[in-house]
Amino acid sequence: MSEANHKHTHGARHVAIIMDGNGRWAKKRFLPHAIGHKNGVEAVRRTVRAAGELGLEALTIYAFSSENWKRPESEVNDLMMLLRNYIQSDLDEFIANDVRLKVIGNYRDLAPDIVDLIDDAIAKTAHGKIVLAVALNYGSQDELVRVTRKIADMASSGEIKSDEINEALISNMLDTADMPPLDLLIRTSGEHRLSNFMLWQCAYTEMWFTDILWPDFGQEHLAQALQDFANRERRFGGR
Ligand code: IPE
Ligand code: IPE
Ligand code: MG
Repeated sequence: MSEANHKHTHGARHVAIIMDGNGRWAKKRFLPHAIGHKNGVEAVRRTVRAAGELGLEALTIYAFSSENWKRPESEVNDLMMLLRNYIQSDLDEFIANDVRLKVIGNYRDLAPDIVDLIDDAIAKTAHGKIVLAVALNYGSQDELVRVTRKIADMASSGEIKSDEINEALISNMLDTADMPPLDLLIRTSGEHRLSNFMLWQCAYTEMWFTDILWPDFGQEHLAQALQDFANRERRFGGR
């Protein structure tokens, strides 16, 4: 990441996006949901490129929540097929653009061929500098339960004492452990909720909401969000 680039992020290192509104985008056009998701992938492509160009260190995108299994099986299948295609078609571009793929969430519960594709892409992009973290089968409460179980096991084996459990320990055990703190969270489609996304990580994150539906999102919106971020006064509880 060059210094020249970094100034376009206005100091933000890590941005996360709740990519919402694919269904409504399709509905407005009397198209099937699947077409909304397909156009959503195009927006992902644009946004990943923009994140690199603007100079972000890390971009986290909420692609499939641990609650999205509640959707009709055909929609889940469509999303999984788009995910397969996306990883396969964009892997070379990730490598060329210095993107390191990372997954947050319990992705090992996805179909075995997707798990293999992900593991292969993670290995092949391991030396990339810009982190693209895709949240797959991710739920923040599930993430915290997984961490809590690990800590309970460490405590019962005597590896750790209860007074050694602190915020740093928990942060370092989350799926986001090796990422910079989350500076800015974007949610599209006019919804103002977290939907079980990065609850711990959002403690002091700035929030940016837009009515834009995800398939219409692009570089100009990310740049606008970062411009607005520049005008926020972050206090972290201080004065
Ligand atoms: C976001 O679009 C994509 C996923 C949740 C995978 P939605 O499918 O939630 O779109 P709306 O909310 O129905 O418009
Ligand atoms: C959040 O969007 C999940 C993703 C963007 C992957 P949803 O559309 O699932 O959230 P709710 O159900 O409206 O809260
Ligand atoms: Mg939605």
